[in-house]
Amino acid sequence: MNMPRLTLTSPAKINLILNLLAPRDDGYHEVSFVMQTIALADTLTIEAAHPGSGIVFTCSDPTLSSSDNLVVQAFYRYFEAANQPEGDVRIHLEKRIPVQAGLGGGSSNAATALMGLQQFVEEPIPGQLVHQVAASLGSDVSFFLTGGTSLATGRGETITPLVFSHQLPPIPLLVVKPRHLGISTPKAFELLRAQGHYETVSVDPFLRGLPNFHNAESLDPYLHNDFEPIIFEQYPEVKAVADKLQELSVERPLLCGSGPTMAGFLRDPLLWQDYPNLPPAVVQAFPTDQFEVFLTHTATATNTSFLNSPVS
Ligand code: C5P
Repeated sequence: MNMPRLTLTSPAKINLILNLLAPRDDGYHEVSFVMQTIALADTLTIEAAHPGSGIVFTCSDPTLSSSDNLVVQAFYRYFEAANQPEGDVRIHLEKRIPVQAGLGGGSSNAATALMGLQQFVEEPIPGQLVHQVAASLGSDVSFFLTGGTSLATGRGETITPLVFSHQLPPIPLLVVKPRHLGISTPKAFELLRAQGHYETVSVDPFLRGLPNFHNAESLDPYLHNDFEPIIFEQYPEVKAVADKLQELSVERPLLCGSGPTMAGFLRDPLLWQDYPNLPPAVVQAFPTDQFEVFLTHTATATNTSFLNSPVS
């Protein structure tokens, strides 16, 4: 270990397009997603621990601080892949991204841990191996190695960063999660599987339009999430958030991943000029005892060192 302390940003994501293709024999679905990191983020710190202490993990949310946490799993898998004994490392995760929210927080934390380790250890492992470890941790983890605007295919682990064609500029959005509702990804997929109906939307029009997306209006016609009908049906409180968002000054409310968080791009950002304070209409529609609300924006890729490595 050669670094005294590293502080890393671990962003959330939304799916601008979430398109589920056929179910596969291995229990997963073939997908076609356009994924986008947003500025809402957790912070991960990594520092050397006393010799012999092994991996010591703490989290601002004590319910997440067990060794099951994907961050800890990422550390173990990294050292295993590197064929190195586990280092003595202290990791702290400061959570801001809600959990079981559809915002990819756990996957992002795991990817950030892998990128942190690449900087932390004396002999980083090849980028391709990092991608393999990421994919083994979860379908969404690989995306966070690059972030920005990316196409995800396969079961979600095959990433084509769209950085070379175009990245979305920062577009403001409101993110709202019913505070006491969490939906696990397997549960959402189970609901969809039981329904047995898959609607396929091509991502091509989005990809062609990408250089022209500068604001909420231009993006709006392309947004799509296959989970919306089933999640709205099973969780009326999520549909209620969508309806309330529509009454505020946002474009088409969009389900984040498999929910229950909803996001709405701001139609007229100037109306929100007190940013980052929430306008009274938003506070009234989404009281903080019932909802977690974030005014944030789309974020471009920052982890460009991974753009040069093979991404599958
Ligand atoms: O890969 P991850 O562990 O995040 O996936 C959690 C669950 O979500 C899987 O066990 C599977 O049930 C479902 N899933 C799926 N198709 C995908 C990704 C996830 O069916 N492409």
